[in-house]
Amino acid sequence: MDIGITLFNHILSNQKINPKATGAFSRLLMAIVVAAKMVQRDVARAGLVDVLGRAGGFNVQGEEVQKLDNIANQVLKRLLFSSGEVCTLVSEEEADLIEVPRQYRRGDYLIHFDPLDGSSNIDANVSIGTIFSIYRRITSPETDPELKDVLQPGLNQVAAGYIIYGSSCMLVYSTGSGVHGFTLDPSVGEFILSYPKIEIPKKGKIYSTNEGNSAYWDQATRDYIDWLKNPDSEHSKPYTSRYIGSLVADFHRNLLYGGIYLYPADRRDPLKPTGKLRLMCEANPMSFLVEQAGGLATTGTKRILEIKPTEIHQRVPLIIGSSEDVKAYQEFVAKSDEKINL
Ligand code: AHG
Ligand code: MN
Ligand code: MN
Repeated sequence: MDIGITLFNHILSNQKINPKATGAFSRLLMAIVVAAKMVQRDVARAGLVDVLGRAGGFNVQGEEVQKLDNIANQVLKRLLFSSGEVCTLVSEEEADLIEVPRQYRRGDYLIHFDPLDGSSNIDANVSIGTIFSIYRRITSPETDPELKDVLQPGLNQVAAGYIIYGSSCMLVYSTGSGVHGFTLDPSVGEFILSYPKIEIPKKGKIYSTNEGNSAYWDQATRDYIDWLKNPDSEHSKPYTSRYIGSLVADFHRNLLYGGIYLYPADRRDPLKPTGKLRLMCEANPMSFLVEQAGGLATTGTKRILEIKPTEIHQRVPLIIGSSEDVKAYQEFVAKSDEKINL
């Protein structure tokens, strides 16, 4: 595939090679692309117009909502509804399934999304993102969508991706045939293919984790991180530590350079014994992408994509990245007797 192709054409050429395609899925992806450009515009003006700072409330996860969290949430909802291709939405910022308002056509797809990821970084002008995960409904199209539609395992995703609002704006996505990255050319307002068929290096030299939590980790995770820091040329150690605190940005860097990202279970907050990241809107889409790029994603003992979800906002430990690095972590976990509540 040629570098230089627009995202619009990329979506359409994928549609053409599928004889059963109706165009519905393409329309949905196009809606996400337009939403991405709108959120990018708002993020880029942060500081100039009144979009910075806290919105004055807490979301369903008990986290403080920023104004841009709300703006991104509204933009995505509006564009996805007007595509006419969704039957329900689930947002990190809303407690329940979001119903499609009556005036819109209802389609066969449902989307889990994190409208703004890394939002505690917004005011400091650090890279943030949007994450999306697309499924096809499994109940009859004649009926209202049910919980079992939105609680499908990550393996059922038909597409997933993210937008990163960084030094440039990029959209990275997969429909199950590789991972492709597009960079927004602001002068023409188009996403242009810049990273076709991304493959994550089999082994990296970077580890990314919030090491401030290490006192609350299980012993296997502490041992693994200590091991990474021990000089040993055979394993290219010590590793370099890189942690931004925006999953999208940390993941994106490791996808390109190789490495491992860990947000393990910890004992800091008894209400969050399985770590901080959300299965449906964070772990699953990133795991779909990393596997498509040749990497791995696990809780330490379980493949993320095989987890059978029980709640729309459930949290999960996430260890994700280069295959050899993730396997090395799994060996530490397998050797350990101690397990945190997984
Ligand atoms: P969000 O901004 O969508 O709530 O997500 C924040 C997440 C994720 O982006 C990041 O990797 C992680 O929280 C950082 O958590 P710590 O500050 O605990 O390291
Ligand atoms: Mn997030
Ligand atoms: Mn968020």
